[in-house]
Amino acid sequence: MCGIVGALTDRPVAPLMLDALRRLEYRGYDSAGLATIVDGALQRRRAAGKLSELEGVLAAEPLPGTSGVGHTRWATHGPPTVDNAHPHVAGRVAVVHNGIIENHAELKAELKAEGVVFTSDTDTEVVAHLLDRAIRAGQTPQAAMAALMPRLAGAFAFVVLVAGEDDLLLAARRASPLALGIGDGECFVGSDAVALAPLTRRIVYLEDGDWAVVRRAGVQVFRDAGVPVERPEQVSTVSAAMVGKGNYRHFMEKEIHEQPEAIAHTLHAVLDPGTGAATIPSPLDADHVPKITIVAAGTSYYAGLAARYWLESLAGIATEVELASEFRDRDAVLPPGGVAIAVSQSGESLDTLMAIRRAKALGQKTLAIVNVPESTIARESDGVLLTRAGPEFGVASTKATTAQLTAFCALAIALGRKHGRLSEERASALRIALTGLPGRVGEVLRQEHEGQFMRIAHDLARARDVLYLGRGLSYPIALEGALKLKEITYVHAEGYAAGEMKHGPIALIDEHMPVVIVAPTDGWFEKTASNVAEVRARGGRVILLTDAAGAERLRESNDHVIVLPTVDPVVAPILYTVPVQLLAYYAAVEKGTDADQPRNLAKSVTVE
Ligand code: G6P
Repeated sequence: MCGIVGALTDRPVAPLMLDALRRLEYRGYDSAGLATIVDGALQRRRAAGKLSELEGVLAAEPLPGTSGVGHTRWATHGPPTVDNAHPHVAGRVAVVHNGIIENHAELKAELKAEGVVFTSDTDTEVVAHLLDRAIRAGQTPQAAMAALMPRLAGAFAFVVLVAGEDDLLLAARRASPLALGIGDGECFVGSDAVALAPLTRRIVYLEDGDWAVVRRAGVQVFRDAGVPVERPEQVSTVSAAMVGKGNYRHFMEKEIHEQPEAIAHTLHAVLDPGTGAATIPSPLDADHVPKITIVAAGTSYYAGLAARYWLESLAGIATEVELASEFRDRDAVLPPGGVAIAVSQSGESLDTLMAIRRAKALGQKTLAIVNVPESTIARESDGVLLTRAGPEFGVASTKATTAQLTAFCALAIALGRKHGRLSEERASALRIALTGLPGRVGEVLRQEHEGQFMRIAHDLARARDVLYLGRGLSYPIALEGALKLKEITYVHAEGYAAGEMKHGPIALIDEHMPVVIVAPTDGWFEKTASNVAEVRARGGRVILLTDAAGAERLRESNDHVIVLPTVDPVVAPILYTVPVQLLAYYAAVEKGTDADQPRNLAKSVTVE
């Protein structure tokens, strides 16, 4: 999942590309590099570590040139060293690449047999050598590219710069995203439109299997071995103003605070202004849906787990939730007429894309719940329900998650009405609860509560292990809380169904173990209360997330109790997601880890 850019301009290109790479750092940040053409020859600067390291290299040794390619890496083949940093150069060719060339070993062996010496451990370098050899043998760069494409297997995107070709970039995509930006006498390439937002909003999205010849005057798109195709130019909705941190320390903090808006915008888009009910997107609008299969990864998977409760209890539809990485290679048995829902912030997670393709092959209709309208998963699905969280940059997803939960909840209510399972009175009460959520989330985010979150986070940051418990609709939130904490603070955390604690994790509990319990007063509350007692009886340190009634019932003097606004239990998971994010965020601040760019992770995972 690396970030790639390319630019053909009439101004110095290195600062432009560096700026675009900053907006792509969510895709990887273990090394970076740029290459340009200076007096007809390639010049390159690379550095291990984050982009700031590359900036240091550029300050010491500036890179002129008006055409170039750039890269920020998330290592797959080979450690994050300077030698493995992109661009990779062979002779006249420089390549930046995202994804994996699956048959690289075979191609490498063939090239080695011909005497080629490799200078990196990457799969990328084969692309540079194959193109360079073809060009040296007399082919034009375009012909070399047309011959190369059918030889490559895998899911990838790459951009090529050729020495002596000051007005040319070659760009290709197979499964991994790639956008072409059209400027005024300039052209750009980027892993997404957000990277290009300050440069242009005129975007041509490449389709899976496309490749392009990019020149300052415009772009030509081809398929496979060189068949020309037309791809429309679109105006991106992302503006340059949307991509900064504002007054916040981290994108994650900013995005946590944007949740009232993310929820409100999502509701606004999903609910019909006339009836107030959610519009049910195709293919869920069928008279009978025998089964829903939700496929997703990471946090989006946990949103799917909460959605299962809603879809079953409010709409009475049989629902399974599957990890995309597992589902894609399983022989799942699915009923004809079933609907598979892919949930993804980016709309690009490769496992989720492959899972939705698998579901199609298994005869399911497909719906995408995504935050990026132009994403691959959105484009390949039969129907789309857009969350309106706005661009999300923090690697740990926050506002996109609450937007996904909101969309799912509104959808389940509408399906409950459609299938006669919910009375209009109950449905309307639930819609009111949903539309009240931006206000309730705003209350949780108020400055005056910051001190309490910071005090608890102080403890969490020092713990060796933390357990998160929840039952029913709170169980996915416990899983989410544990994921957030481990991914941004590196503290080991586990989320557990509260009722399962007695079957294992209870053995871990002692006076050093903080246990975060997600317990709004709902139908599961009394059972969870028993689990709280079991934790206390073993000396565990209880951190309770509940409402006023729950606090009244359960508070003991040694506990930390975070009292949240009282809401209808059906919408509580959306509200309770916010405090688990805040605890993880403040724990990361306390520990000094990088909440926006935690080690080893990346946001949009386009490898398998
Ligand atoms: C990565 C991110 C997670 C995200 C997951 C799924 O692992 O670090 O925050 O939940 O991918 O991403 P998606 O874009 O498909 O929701």
